[in-house]
Amino acid sequence: MKIAIGCDHGAFRLKNEIIEFLNSENYEVKDFGTYSEESCDYPDIALPVAEAVVNKEYDFGILVCGTGIGIGIAANKVPGVRAALCSDTFSAHATREHNNANILTMGQRVVGTGLALDIVKTFLNTEFEGERHQKRIDKISEIEKKYSK
Ligand code: RB5
Repeated sequence: MKIAIGCDHGAFRLKNEIIEFLNSENYEVKDFGTYSEESCDYPDIALPVAEAVVNKEYDFGILVCGTGIGIGIAANKVPGVRAALCSDTFSAHATREHNNANILTMGQRVVGTGLALDIVKTFLNTEFEGERHQKRIDKISEIEKKYSK
């Protein structure tokens, strides 16, 4: 499974911990930066990760910032992205089963490393349930179409 990952300066440590975990589990990982704790703008990282996922170059994306909020808001502007902010494993499980989320976002200032890695494991190991949930995702796509030029 191929994973695209990115962070801003607020989650540089957490991103590296997630990469280390994914490598140990033999996932194929591409690190889209940022590559230091120097201040940067999270939309600049969210966009290439979001595009790589929507273009099917990667199976899933993982985006982390201080809260997981800004980077997720930015990613969700790309049509086809369903980025879900998770701070617990129940949400990670549910957003894969129900929302077919394709990007996981988390906040380094919100979750500890152990919980973050459990959330990653849960997210990557849970299948979309389809059926009634697909109809709702189709409606999200219709909203995207309505507002795209
Ligand atoms: C950066 O200071 C911080 O605003 C960012 O990491 C994130 O929390 C934004 O949502």
